[in-house]
Amino acid sequence: MSEPYRFDLVTLFGPLCEPYLRGSILGRAWTRGLIDVGFTDPRDFTTDPHRTVDDAPFGGGAGMVMLPEPLALAIEDVRARRKPARTLLLSPSGRPLTQAIVRELAALGSLCLVCGRYEGVDQRISDHVVDDEISVGDYVLTGGELGAMVIVDAVSRLLPDVLGNAEGPESESFSDHALLEYPQYTRPQVWREHAIPEVLFSGHHGKIAAWRLAERMTRTQARRPDLWADYVARHPEVLAPPKTRRIRRAPSRVSPPAAPAADGSTRPPPSTDPDGGPA
Ligand SMILES: C[S@@+](CC[C@H](N)C(=O)[O-])C[C@H]1O[C@@H](n2cnc3c(N)ncnc32)[C@H](O)[C@@H]1O
Repeated sequence: MSEPYRFDLVTLFGPLCEPYLRGSILGRAWTRGLIDVGFTDPRDFTTDPHRTVDDAPFGGGAGMVMLPEPLALAIEDVRARRKPARTLLLSPSGRPLTQAIVRELAALGSLCLVCGRYEGVDQRISDHVVDDEISVGDYVLTGGELGAMVIVDAVSRLLPDVLGNAEGPESESFSDHALLEYPQYTRPQVWREHAIPEVLFSGHHGKIAAWRLAERMTRTQARRPDLWADYVARHPEVLAPPKTRRIRRAPSRVSPPAAPAADGSTRPPPSTDPDGGPA
């Protein structure tokens, strides 16, 4: 059996993270030796009686900043013991995490994930100690632990045998062509008067595949114009004249579609373009 993928979290709050990582699919992957997770606490590398890991920022300002020395010693300890392939600092200023980055990380075999707290970490950790900074989104969390667990989760599910169905990740959002996933349905066939699209019980695999691709395109175009522009740049054929691009939306309801919500919802309504193609 191959070595487990090793994650080392440098965090003040390992006991907060472990119960989550011990549950469900990640927990089973850990028990089965597909992944392995360790926690290293920067407080264990302090020398004062209060085990101090933060101090006020030079130049003034709100809050406290994580001291460089305990954090660096904790990271160096992980590097000496585990030799992680890469050390990433979780930071709102980092590179935005994408599925492409997740795929790249999944190939590495080991990672050290450094979790900031307070107002963040001394800039010299970023400049001189870690390899890269990763953001999990344009919002601010109270600490890097949730971001680190996002990375552990997203990477783990790409590892062989972690998901029951080996083909699972391939048909999901962002997995190929940068398109969102198609709509999924399960039993019953009619639920509260909402029927599933007929094509899904036609038994015709070619038609189902074509419907799914059309749904992915329609959904991506409506919800994520940024991803759609990228897709069109790489697949200019989708902008061919309407006659040659037969992208149909199947009806998803027994009754006519409801009028767009009057509650100011920001979710875009389904496309009314019968071709489902770009406007
Ligand atoms: C309260 S935040 C610090 C925010 C910092 N003062 C700023 O404005 O960018 C504390 C820690 O949470 C983590 N964190 C917060 N938001 C994050 C995000 N969007 N992505 C990754 N890590 C984040 C980082 O490790 C950060 O050092």
